[in-house]
Amino acid sequence: MTTASYDKYSFANLMTERRRMKQIQIAILGYGTVGTGVARLLMENGELLANRVGAKLRLKYVADIDTTTDRGLKLPEGVLIDDAAKAVADPDIQIVVETIGGEGIAKALIADALGAGKHVVTANKALLAKYGNDLIATAAGAGSDLAFEASVGGCMPIIKTLREALVGNHVNAMTGILNGTCNYIFTKIADEGIPFEEALAQAQAGGYAEADPTLDVDGFDTAHKLAILGALAYGMEINFDDIFIEGIRAVTPRDITYASQFGYVIKLLAISKNHGDRIEARVHPTMIPTGTTLAHVNGTLNAISVSTDASGDILLSGHGAGMLPTASAVVGDVVDLARNLLLGVTGRIPVLSYQTDTIRKLPVMPMDDIVTHYYFRFNAMDQPGVLSKISGILGDHEISLKSVHQKGRKSNGSVPLVMLTHRAREAAVNAALQKIAALDIVAGTPMLIRIEDQQGDQD
Ligand code: HSE
Repeated sequence: MTTASYDKYSFANLMTERRRMKQIQIAILGYGTVGTGVARLLMENGELLANRVGAKLRLKYVADIDTTTDRGLKLPEGVLIDDAAKAVADPDIQIVVETIGGEGIAKALIADALGAGKHVVTANKALLAKYGNDLIATAAGAGSDLAFEASVGGCMPIIKTLREALVGNHVNAMTGILNGTCNYIFTKIADEGIPFEEALAQAQAGGYAEADPTLDVDGFDTAHKLAILGALAYGMEINFDDIFIEGIRAVTPRDITYASQFGYVIKLLAISKNHGDRIEARVHPTMIPTGTTLAHVNGTLNAISVSTDASGDILLSGHGAGMLPTASAVVGDVVDLARNLLLGVTGRIPVLSYQTDTIRKLPVMPMDDIVTHYYFRFNAMDQPGVLSKISGILGDHEISLKSVHQKGRKSNGSVPLVMLTHRAREAAVNAALQKIAALDIVAGTPMLIRIEDQQGDQD
């Protein structure tokens, strides 16, 4: 052995030895799908992580009330415990990973951990949307870091993009497909023409939708995520309560077919626009042109387009859920925090990427003030004068029609009447639709779907 090669290898050995000796101690609270994925990545990719971090990420605890179910992972002896509070209270623990979910015990454990000066990683969007402002204050008070990449878009790094990569940009708008369950359901309806209930049942059978699908299909999950993104993009307090939320249950295969005839697809979108002194924040089924990139994001995939002043438009896409994609985002956060710990710094990047004293209460624009294009579907009697009555009411409310289509005829004489509008104000649209619904020539509730079409904005 030459001296040179001896030196080389001894140096490498020394560095490896140093990495082995340095440890960051981690506790995972919640051994469900995401918790299992995080434990798996920390163990199976341990060497890769140590090489990147310069220390071993040691999983000291995985805490869950269920310590018997086989998760297909062999944790070292003594790691699995049934007492999350014990893990949080252990002075060795530097990073707490919360993967319990929900707004109950998870909230208290995160607050305790932050208050005790520990750094916390969470995937809990519902909790952040509702109590994020309080948790951020607790973290700031205690000098702890709070990281939450996995709360929006799974492995798609939208939080890091807003918090770090785009810090030099004003964000003008964000448009996102942020719920894989809804995107899967819409894709199924479009591809197979099956009704919502059947598509939902298939999503549940395939494990893409929860047994109780409310959070997903009624739009709340998407709104939780939009509340978090709005705060990061605009430096505002997290404001979930003022987001307009409309779910996907009312959209029929017919609407999806008609949309495609007009050159649109329907997606559940999270939409946010920056108007300076107030923002738009809304979640609803939306028609978008088939030629746009978002229109091609199908199945369970998520995607988001961010429009900025300096960088133009940026698009991210990826798996918004699932064990390992979500765990990947959590582990990315753990590594950020571990690197800070090794350098002895905290708060290097403020939680919302804005200095706390600059965070504003920015009002969300009431839906009445929204101006956009609309698709209406009425179930109207097929008789003379019907069209003029309906279009007369729309005209009275200054809603200008772009096109009108009569779609076949039913045996009872009613007919689906579909209209696309030029840009109109939502308050006027609602007032007009109320009057139209009250006409005896119109059966049932009119269907309204908003259209986001930048090209159409020229019309
Ligand atoms: N339930 C969500 C979805 C994933 O279907 O996309 C977690 O936010």
